[in-house]
This record gives sequence, structure tokens and C-alpha cells, in this order.
Amino acid sequence: MTAKGLPGFRDFAPEDFALRAHIFGVWRDVAARYGFEEYDGPPLEPLELYTAKSGDEIVGQLYHFVDKGDRQVALRPEMTPTLARMVAARANGLKKPIRWFSIPQLFRYERQQRGRLREHFQLNCDLIGEAGPLADAEIIALSIDMMRGFGLGSHDVRVRVSDRRFVSAMLADLGVPEENTPAVFHAIDRVEKDPLATRTLLAEIVDPNLVDQVMELTDPANRSALFARVTTTSPLGATLAALEQMGLGDWIDFDPTIVRGLAYYTGTVFELFDAKRTLRAICGGGRYDTLLNSLGGADLPALGFGMGDVVLGELLKDRGLHPALPPSIDVFVASVTPDDVSHVLRTAHELRTAGIRVEYAMNANAVGKQLNLANTRGARIAVVIGPDDRAKGEVQLKDLVNKTQEGIPASSLVSRLSSLFPKSSNG
Ligand code: HAM
Repeated sequence: MTAKGLPGFRDFAPEDFALRAHIFGVWRDVAARYGFEEYDGPPLEPLELYTAKSGDEIVGQLYHFVDKGDRQVALRPEMTPTLARMVAARANGLKKPIRWFSIPQLFRYERQQRGRLREHFQLNCDLIGEAGPLADAEIIALSIDMMRGFGLGSHDVRVRVSDRRFVSAMLADLGVPEENTPAVFHAIDRVEKDPLATRTLLAEIVDPNLVDQVMELTDPANRSALFARVTTTSPLGATLAALEQMGLGDWIDFDPTIVRGLAYYTGTVFELFDAKRTLRAICGGGRYDTLLNSLGGADLPALGFGMGDVVLGELLKDRGLHPALPPSIDVFVASVTPDDVSHVLRTAHELRTAGIRVEYAMNANAVGKQLNLANTRGARIAVVIGPDDRAKGEVQLKDLVNKTQEGIPASSLVSRLSSLFPKSSNG
């Protein structure tokens, strides 16, 4: 029997959970500002949901097995196929465009490294039923506002954008046959990490005379010429113009080497990276206009993104933007003698009923020891109940931050502390 967890799977002690709760909180707040509604699906799905459309990379990373009913099943490695299935099944009844978000835990058998684990939580925001370039701008703006929600700016995070339609057209102009485009995308996807590998892969796919020309498409020296062309010939031009109008233009870098690893993307594709490029992608997404049709027979254009909690958490910690562990209580109630304990119990319960976060000592420790615990928990106030004060109908109110103390009528305690700790601050 081993007491160790599995590699690539995390434990969330309270200080880790505080960061996770902070990330989820910002995700939910910003998604709400864009009118997105939260949904979820099952963590276990039929294996074929992924083998059909996600592409080889993700299929190679699946946690899959045969269940007791002889079904081939897989833990979800991404949310998009589940979403496509769910929306396709009820497409007629939903008002378009559909704006849905979810925060699933996903599972991929990846080689564990910084920013890559075998489980992660991934915010998914998808806009379904709108084919125009403003939908692309809306989704990219949402991903940027997520970053702004964490206190990150355009000097911290860059959005690299391209368009598979544009790159496909460039490849067609060069004479690359259409059926080879997915393999060329796969080769281009590796160019930043390993340009030589891209060259080798291309040589296996396209005419040897074309390898240099395809490589030129990925060369940063040609970027501004390609950018001029994309803005006039592809819908991405209108998307980028809309982002300018929103005041978000300085976050964006046009980058034709962004093609995305997943097979189902059909148009705009984008990824968010930390500006220093020390981490892996924070977020990735794009347009997938044919997936709903192929998974559920609903002919609806769609796009969206996935943003993981792992790289984002690393970045927030690097920048000092992660939250401190919040105090777990507002008030500690202490007893002076064993005879006071029943009064402590009643008082603690009244305060809790009023929505205040309260703890008390469960054994007969000296008051000093009880107050030590109060400080460790981050309590702002201690209420000390003793026989002398009780005889006067009073309790002692200690402000542990300002180090002040006063006797107050026991009958006024709840209202006094309720005004100090309004419900919304209990967080
Ligand atoms: P993806 O690029 O595979 O896209 O993942 C999106 C993000 O999830 C990545 O940028 C990264 O932050 C995080 N992520 C992915 N794998 C791992 C891992 N093993 N460990 C930690 N974080 C990870 C998709 O999954 C698409 N389905 C997103 C999408 C939604 N496209 C359209 N709608």
C-alpha cells in the first residue's frame, strides 16, 4: 500500500485551494460580464467522442478503459466535443448565439513538466451560432478580459492570432494540395520549438521545392507583409479591427505559426502566452464551424477557448498576484472558566446564525492559549466570557488588530458584531 498520490495529480491543501477558488471566481465574474451561462457535462464519455474529431495528439493522451458493460470509455481530455454533443442535441430550442461557459476538470496522460499535468481545470467559453468576425472578436476580447481580471496587462500576456482559412489559402497559392493541408498544419505547429523537425516533416508531405516557401510563411521577417495581406483578404482583418475598437489592439500579435494542435479548427485560431515566454500556453482556442454537424447533425458555426488553471496559477505566483490565505474566521469566543463553556456555545451559535464566521476552543485551555488560536486563525475580534462579566450581564470584546478591549452588554453583542461583519464580507 503506497500513501503517495499519482504523478501529475494534485492535492489542494487550503492555501492551494485559495488560489484555485480565486481563479474560478475571476473566471465566473468575467464570464458573467459577457453574458455567459455556466453548464457542465459528464467526466466520463464514450471513447469515440474523441477518436472521431480531436486529432492524434489528444487521442494518444487519453485515459481510457472498458467499463463493466463492455463500453469503451474515456475520462474527458477536453470539453469541446461534450459541448458540441450537448448543444447539437438541443440546438433548436436554444436562442442563438449561445454563450456557454464551464470549468471542467480534464485528464490527459501527458509527460509531466512545468505547466503540464495529468489533470487540470480548464475554463471553456464558447459562442455558438454566429459565423461573423465580431464573434471572433468577442471571444478573443473575453480571453483578454480574463487576464485583466487577474491584474495582468498586455506587457504580461500576448495574444497570438492567426487564421487557418488564410494559411490554407496561402498554401493553396503555393500549390500544396488541399488534402495535405492538415499535415502541413501539424508540421507548422512545431516550428517554434523545433524548426528542423518542421522542415523534415514538410519534406515528407510537400514537393521538395515547396519546403522553403512554406518555411518562409513561418519566418518572423515576413510577418508584416503577411499581416498586411491578412487584414485585406481574410475575415481576421475585421476581427482585429473590432479588437482595436474595443481598445484591446495592443494585446494582439498576428502570428501565422499558430495553427493549434486540435484537428477540428476551421478559421481563427489563437493562443495566449506570458510575454517573457517562460511558460507554456495559458489559453488556446479558435473557430470550429463543422464540429457540431459532424458530432450531432446541427449545422452551427462555433468558436471558443480553453484556459487552464496550471500555467495561469504559475504566472500569478510569479507576478505576486495570487491571493493570501484569507482568515478562516471573524470572531473567536473564549471562556474564562469551565462554567462559561455553555455560554460560549450559545453565543457562538447566535453569532453563526447572524452569518458571522466563529470558532471557539473545544477544551478547557487558559484564556491566553485560546487567544493564540484566535490569532492563528486570523480572527479580528475575540469575545471573552467570564463569571464576573456574566454577573453584570456583560462580555469582554477584544479587538485583536487594534489591541483594544471593552466590556459591552451581552444583549448587544450580535447587533454590534453584525455591523462589524456585514454578510457580504464573509466571503
Ligand atoms: P488546448 O489547447 O488543448 O485546447 O488546451 C487549452 C489550455 O488548457 C492550454 O492552453 C493550457 O493552458 C491548458 N492545458 C491543456 N493541457 C494541459 C495539461 N496537461 N496540463 C495543464 N494545463 C493544460 C482545448 O482543449 C480546446 N478544447 C479549447 C477550446 C474550447 N477550443 C474551442 N473551445
